[in-house]
Amino acid sequence: MTEDFKQNLLCIGAGYVGGPTMAMIAYKCPHYRVTLVDINARRIDEWNSDRLPIYEPGLDEIVKAVRGKNLFFSTDIENNIREADIIFVSVNTPTKTFGVGAGMAADLQYWEKTARQILACSDSSKIVVEKSTLPVRTALAMERILNSNNRHLHFDVLSNPEFLAEGTAINDLLKPDRVLVGSRLTDSGIAARQQVVDIYANWVPMERIVTSDVWSSELSKLVSNVFLSQRISTINAISAICEKSEADVANVARAAGMDPRIGSRYLNASIGFGGSCFKKDILNLVYISKSYGLDEVADYLHSIVRINAYQKERFVENMLQAMFNTLAGKRIGIFGFAFKANTGDTRESPAIYIARRLLEEQADLVISDPKALGNARNDLADADGRVAYVEDPYQAASGCHAIAVLTEWDQYKTLDYEKIFAGMVKPAFIFDGRNIIDHQHCFDIGFNVYPIGKPPLTHLE
Ligand code: UDX
Ligand code: UDX
Repeated sequence: MTEDFKQNLLCIGAGYVGGPTMAMIAYKCPHYRVTLVDINARRIDEWNSDRLPIYEPGLDEIVKAVRGKNLFFSTDIENNIREADIIFVSVNTPTKTFGVGAGMAADLQYWEKTARQILACSDSSKIVVEKSTLPVRTALAMERILNSNNRHLHFDVLSNPEFLAEGTAINDLLKPDRVLVGSRLTDSGIAARQQVVDIYANWVPMERIVTSDVWSSELSKLVSNVFLSQRISTINAISAICEKSEADVANVARAAGMDPRIGSRYLNASIGFGGSCFKKDILNLVYISKSYGLDEVADYLHSIVRINAYQKERFVENMLQAMFNTLAGKRIGIFGFAFKANTGDTRESPAIYIARRLLEEQADLVISDPKALGNARNDLADADGRVAYVEDPYQAASGCHAIAVLTEWDQYKTLDYEKIFAGMVKPAFIFDGRNIIDHQHCFDIGFNVYPIGKPPLTHLE
């Protein structure tokens, strides 16, 4: 079976990163055999079914085109390790919840366990590629574990961080801005790196494939997320000033973003960033900075996360204040629960915090989202009875005192807000946490409208 293929590629961890990445590699490189394994048997079953475990535009078509040809999903981790030439590791590295570094450092237990399993099951030398985002110098620890064998097996540990964003993952994989591969600068490291470069070179122009030492590669991933999240926290901090000073954050962002040194993207004020990466990666760097005694650096980076938390709380406090300082017994329609549009993922979604705070204020919630209701149910499982889940936004808003738009799904831009207004309790409120709806139009209909970083439009004295 393996003779027909140039190499066997394996990915351990068939999640949001491993799944789409390896599917794309299989799609673009028919001469490689690509297998994904996961400890979660249900996830693997789903990857082998018509209903994939994650929603990502364009992913279904790619998986269907190559599954069973050169793309396979399996729970047999041991045998697949044995047969693999190159092993990508994409297991989760959540923030540690216990012991030293709790709440900050990365929990590397799955990574280390995986490294030990690779060692235990290998009977030939292999290349191991870090796909998970890891603290700087993790590769060194992994190398030590893997090369601590007396069976003459040699492992090169490379860093090949993933820069895809959810919702646009397929396009990001098809046309990446850059592919980064870091290795040790030894002969063996550079040769291993070339093998990984060769895979991507099947569809990525060579000038976009960047090589470096392994530490720079690990750090670059974290730094990219610092820059992106820092922009969001900066514009969100500015949105608070705008609300007080009656400036309009969209105008400010547009004017600032026209300077090419600043650039216009990632300047949308919001209820704060979510997703599995930004907060985790920044806290990770905060922890590393502290452990190097760089307290000022740690403080600076930590402020990105602090502003993000502040922005979510500010949104809730604005709702409370606008609605006469009480939400108890009021019904609030939540439009969008995913951490961003075009995904069903709710990890670190600001909607979770906001929903919990609204429940604390004893509001009743009706949550609507085109893709994330399943995850929302899990996230709020302990709030039974106080939360309803309704896919249709019109139905969700019916009988509500207020709507809070928490995810920037396109469909919320074009709803018939006149119809929605007619079915709501008056005075009716809209809190647009993503600045995506037509505020003037909703005001004209009769809504009291509260955008982010802009003066509210209200009929109340
Ligand atoms: C993960 C990490 O969270 C992130 O830090 C990194 O940048 C990329 O990999 P993601 O793919 O979004 O991101 O995570 P997730 O969807 O949770 O997938 C991880 C998968 O690994 C899960 O399916 C889990 O079951 C699997 N896993 C975890 C293993 O197969 N073995 C383990 O020991 C632990
Ligand atoms: C991010 C990075 O973009 C990606 O390169 C990295 O590999 C993983 O982390 P992702 O978390 O999937 O990707 O989504 P992203 O589009 O970056 O959005 C993150 C959060 O920021 C979302 O909650 C989004 O709504 C929010 N956001 C984004 C804003 O609030 N304003 C913006 O202008 C942009």
